[in-house]
Amino acid sequence: MDRIRIRGGAPLNGLIPISGAKNAALPLMIASLLTEENLELGNVPRLADISSLLRIMSNFGVDHSIAGRRPGQSSETGQTIRLTAKNIIDTTAPYELVSTMRASFWVIAPLVARFGHAKVSMPGGCAIGTRPVDLLIMALAKLGAAIEIEGGYVVATAPKGLIGAEIDFPKVTVGGTHVALMAATLAQGTTVIRNAAREPEVVDLAECLIKMGARIEGAGTSEIVVEGVSRLGGTSHDVMPDRIETGTYAMAVAMTGGDLILDNTRPEYLQAALDVLGQAGVEVSSTHGGIRIRRNGNGIQPVDVTTDPFPGFPTDLQAQFMALMTRANGTSRIRETIFENRFMHVQELARLGAQIRLDGDSAYVDGVAGLKGAPVMATDLRASVSLVIAGLVAEGETTINRVYHLDRGFEALEAKLARCGAQIERLRG
Ligand code: EPU
Repeated sequence: MDRIRIRGGAPLNGLIPISGAKNAALPLMIASLLTEENLELGNVPRLADISSLLRIMSNFGVDHSIAGRRPGQSSETGQTIRLTAKNIIDTTAPYELVSTMRASFWVIAPLVARFGHAKVSMPGGCAIGTRPVDLLIMALAKLGAAIEIEGGYVVATAPKGLIGAEIDFPKVTVGGTHVALMAATLAQGTTVIRNAAREPEVVDLAECLIKMGARIEGAGTSEIVVEGVSRLGGTSHDVMPDRIETGTYAMAVAMTGGDLILDNTRPEYLQAALDVLGQAGVEVSSTHGGIRIRRNGNGIQPVDVTTDPFPGFPTDLQAQFMALMTRANGTSRIRETIFENRFMHVQELARLGAQIRLDGDSAYVDGVAGLKGAPVMATDLRASVSLVIAGLVAEGETTINRVYHLDRGFEALEAKLARCGAQIERLRG
């Protein structure tokens, strides 16, 4: 297995191009199941999760082609993938495939909406919590799908098609909103989704669906209204920039000091996180195509943070922010309200010398003067990258094991950081 080795201490200076968002690309790819025409997606990041979803889609009979790289394009330029779900031969997503990536459960929505049948394995728990799918199932049931659980599979049937309905989510769910939105596009009549997730990835999906012919209003607010149509067509769409990758590199330069331009991204996608960085003493400004982050000389101030659905502080940046706070001049409290068990990075940060106490949903981080390199490993994507951020300032060498977690969600991580001065390399295992 590959490992990443970092020698800490170098500041980050230069420019990092931000990739397309994994968490937008995945539902967009799944939306191709709603039409027999071609869906062409640009700016798709080269990530293990994208390849896993392509395998699952191929199993259904979806054809795909990936446009060749043009002269002058680097391996970090997003790829263009064309998906065609014309000849679907199977509407079953087996456990072996769904268990590798939870978002693949979302295929249930377009499959039942277009073909009247889907059989998808329950995804099971994962490192960051139990992560049930009850609300996704509730949304499909409201739209008239008959749901049965058989041998670990959710079987959804609607032989006469789905019917518009009112869906009130008791808690904000990104996946639930994606599922309700996709299913409602082909349902007969009007669907109202209340307490919808307002994440930019929901807006990106809605914009693509609208280009495919869907009638959607209110995406980006907590109430989305969908008028069902009888069929959707093909289109081309570019995946939005990755706000979590953007925030991760912003935390990294806040940690190391230096001056970084994060290019091809948008500050409004992560304003809450940028505000917090400002309070921590980091200079944040907008550039023509992105964001500039600087910290020169000043120490890092402690800031209390609570994770919340968008537009709040994202849970997917909580681990990275905790890494930053390990070096703050004082104590910060970090509260996790989205997932009940997303603190696995705490023990690993402690191996580098961090002082963190856990109490229920909160972590209290006492800033220390320095971290010391050590071998570490993490159990999920965002936790792994928090160890990279800590390693960038830890004295000596930090080796991060289980790099496959990073490969699921960060395109060309070591190349992007190394170009800006980090001493980081991949050791092939
Ligand atoms: N929840 C339920 N029942 C449901 C669905 C969700 O109780 O049926 C709970 C979850 O257990 C959680 C909360 O609701 O406590 C929010 O979960 P949500 O459905 O919003 O999460 P998700 O759609 O499964 C996406 C991202 C996650 C990100 C969360 C929250 C993708 C592919 N995944 O997950 O990203 O943390 O939204 O913003 O978009 C990551 O990229 O590392 C990652 C975990």
